[in-house]
Amino acid sequence: MRTSRTALVTSAAFAAFAACSLMIASAPAQDDYVLPDGPELFSLEAQCGYCHDAAPSINRSMGQTREGWEEFVSHMAPSDPHTQDQILDYLAHHFGPTYNPRPATLVDGELEVSFQNWIGTTPGQGLRGVAQAPDQSIWFVGTRNNNIGRVEPETGRIREWSLPANTMPENVAIDAQGGVWFIGAGNSTIGRFDAETGNATVTEMSDAEARGPNTAVFDANGVMWFTVERGNMIGRFDPSSGQTRFAPITAENTRPFDIAIAPDGTVWASCSASNCLIRVNPQTMETTQVALPEGATARRISVASDGAVWYTNFSQGRIGRVDPQSGETREWDSPSGANAQPYAIAIVDGIVWYNESGVRPDPLVRFDPNTETFQSWPIQSGNIQAGMARQMRVTSDGNLLLNQDATNRVILVTLPPAG
Ligand code: HEC
Repeated sequence: MRTSRTALVTSAAFAAFAACSLMIASAPAQDDYVLPDGPELFSLEAQCGYCHDAAPSINRSMGQTREGWEEFVSHMAPSDPHTQDQILDYLAHHFGPTYNPRPATLVDGELEVSFQNWIGTTPGQGLRGVAQAPDQSIWFVGTRNNNIGRVEPETGRIREWSLPANTMPENVAIDAQGGVWFIGAGNSTIGRFDAETGNATVTEMSDAEARGPNTAVFDANGVMWFTVERGNMIGRFDPSSGQTRFAPITAENTRPFDIAIAPDGTVWASCSASNCLIRVNPQTMETTQVALPEGATARRISVASDGAVWYTNFSQGRIGRVDPQSGETREWDSPSGANAQPYAIAIVDGIVWYNESGVRPDPLVRFDPNTETFQSWPIQSGNIQAGMARQMRVTSDGNLLLNQDATNRVILVTLPPAG
């Protein structure tokens, strides 16, 4: 679900395929994605297929009770009550609570965490990019609907505003003064949002090749660093001059995704399509690649206080650590195995936290590098468990913020006390 245009094309194509598959009964190449027949199938495609292909999402999801499905789809697709009833009956019948094609392996332990949830006001917006501002408010974006939103944890108040058309924001970064910035992946822009006026001030990229910016972070000098996923570059934006500059990555098509700053100011980025991390010298903007094990692709990264870079090896179901001096890597198998698809990651007090996005429920995993032991918890979304987290950021008091776009949520995880 990259752009709404692509999503529309795929779902239209899929609707055509689904209609055919009812008549011809089998389509070998896509067998995995065929939903069980039902009189409701066509309305289900019409109701559910315009944001994402419905069949693969449902097939790969965890089943729910009828009430569970009702709660889940209310975060995506309000529909007319008659169709809704048909769809819920169908889903509860074929995808009940025992259905789970990719179960998680949860690891018990003694520590406890708790989950607090806030639900965005626009269902199905693709809620991403959580970040906490100095006043404790939590900012997020709704990528499908070009929204930016704010949660006030004290009052529980949630407000969303519209950004310019085609922004397709992917990420939020907050500067040291509390300024709220978003990354427009759709129209390749950086914007500053003013909650007082509801207006965004938008900067375009100075290089036409810099398409598809993804994730951004501010360094200690107030300079923003961001990945340019489609353009295969690292970007630098100085808010005081309004200038953007770009550093090319020499390896081809690495799809740089996440970005983080080490305590010594070194900028690190993950390659989501190649076995490397990118190291950027913040003075010269020179980029070098640090090789990860063959076949590894890193989704997100987090730098520990000792400068070690931790990454989620999405393609091989592991987490890894890179020593910045020697470039040596070490990896550990994630509890749910090779298909765990570790995704978001954050380090708090030397403990590594991440999620396993390839299994259901999506577990929040704790890894202690000292004892090399794991514990994990299913991420709870109201009364159900569904969807996955794409980002984790640490709050000022050392807890975790996650997003979950399938259930339109900002989730605050209160961690056990350190030590
Ligand atoms: C308005 C847009 C929208 C509509 C309409 C919509 N969805 Fe979704 N759906 C989403 C988003 C956004 C996600 C999250 C995708 C992701 O995580 O990449 C999602 C994810 C899912 C998932 C995957 C959950 C998981 O565990 O990963 C399932 C299942 C699903 N939708 C079912 C449905 C059904 C059934 C309907 C129709 C009743 C529906 N959707 C209609 C936006 C929508």
